[in-house]
Amino acid sequence: MIIGTPKEIKNNEYRVALVPDGVKEFVKNGHEVLIEKGAGVGSGFSDEYYQKAGAHIVDTDELYKRAEMIYKVKEMLPEEFRYLREGMILFTYIHSNAFREQTDALLESKTVGIAYEDIEDKDGKFPLLKPMSEIAGKGGMIIGLQYAQKINGGNGLMLARVHGVKTPEITIIGAGVAGIGAAEIAVNLGNKVTILDIDLDKLEKAKQILPPNVELLYSNAKNLEECLVRSDVIVNCILWPKWRKDHMISKDMMKIMKQGSLILDVSCDEGGAIETCRATSHDDPIYVEEGITHYCVDNIPAAFPQTSTYSLCNATLPYALQIANKGYEKALKENKYLRKGLTCYFGELTLEETGIKQNRPYKTPEEILDI
Ligand SMILES: NC(=O)c1ccc[n+]([C@@H]2O[C@H](COP(=O)([O-])OP(=O)(O)OC[C@H]3O[C@@H](n4cnc5c(N)ncnc54)[C@H](O)[C@@H]3O)[C@@H](O)[C@H]2O)c1
Repeated sequence: MIIGTPKEIKNNEYRVALVPDGVKEFVKNGHEVLIEKGAGVGSGFSDEYYQKAGAHIVDTDELYKRAEMIYKVKEMLPEEFRYLREGMILFTYIHSNAFREQTDALLESKTVGIAYEDIEDKDGKFPLLKPMSEIAGKGGMIIGLQYAQKINGGNGLMLARVHGVKTPEITIIGAGVAGIGAAEIAVNLGNKVTILDIDLDKLEKAKQILPPNVELLYSNAKNLEECLVRSDVIVNCILWPKWRKDHMISKDMMKIMKQGSLILDVSCDEGGAIETCRATSHDDPIYVEEGITHYCVDNIPAAFPQTSTYSLCNATLPYALQIANKGYEKALKENKYLRKGLTCYFGELTLEETGIKQNRPYKTPEEILDI
């Protein structure tokens, strides 16, 4: 198979899907790899590294024209829609739910779209979200330190323990991968950290990992309200069900929060758990609503490309190799976990949640693949 990895064009996106060692794996398995000129530079890989690993460096047009599988990081942007074509495999984070225009383009072009974020493992977890969640949680907290600073539009609070001064309070909602990552950074700077979760097993696991001064609270309305009143920073790290129309923190509830405090919405689900959250970019990351600074960048790991590119490629490569070695149809038929990621197939939508959210007809991957 011919695999093509383009340069990402999303705002401040420096990650690349494939590292040079990954190229070697494809070549070893008899495939041809095309890398767009300069695609890896932002992550520290020159074109020469890729060439040495056996890839061909090409321009954008040649890449999209020749590649049978486009292996990338972020969703397709409108400028890239013209490259979509019938039967082309797109293996990337697609987020078809959030990007209606892209879903239209994928369906019209009859692309075979397989989304990283929907691939599951045997425990029903999301193995291709996990590595980025850790980086998003830790990275979100590190970036948050910056937006608490007065010179960056914050309230001027140093998010660290300073003797003689009240210690800042940080509440993290969700003790999953991102939440624990954020907590590790926050607590190591000496902040008073509280974590809320509805899953007691997750809280128990957090107890084993984090120091004893971290408060671990069951997530209910009363505990959340108390945290909103006393916290300087709220970090949202929960996956809010896509079908829910209500919010965990409504606009109204923000009135009880400290003016000038900070919401870091790592989950970044627009109109989801936090009513006032809307996605922002690294170029324009914050806005103020109800007197609260909001940071809602939806590609936090892009700020740390050297770390996140390796972490992402480690997780996605085994699936990309399966698709290349077996062909998409056999790979999807044989691997029910990979099949969960099938978003669209020759003009048919195959992801239920996008069908429901966007009110479109859909079929299950099993129906479409005749399994
Ligand atoms: N902004 C970015 O760049 C970026 C990057 C990667 C991931 N993410 C997002 O980060 C979010 C978290 O991902 P994760 O991998 O840590 O998920 P996870 O499944 O590991 O953790 C989510 C946690 O939230 C808890 N939870 C669910 N409902 C809750 C409630 N009402 N109150 C309190 N806790 C609740 C769950 O029990 C779970 O422990 C996801 O939405 C993901 O899309 C964002």
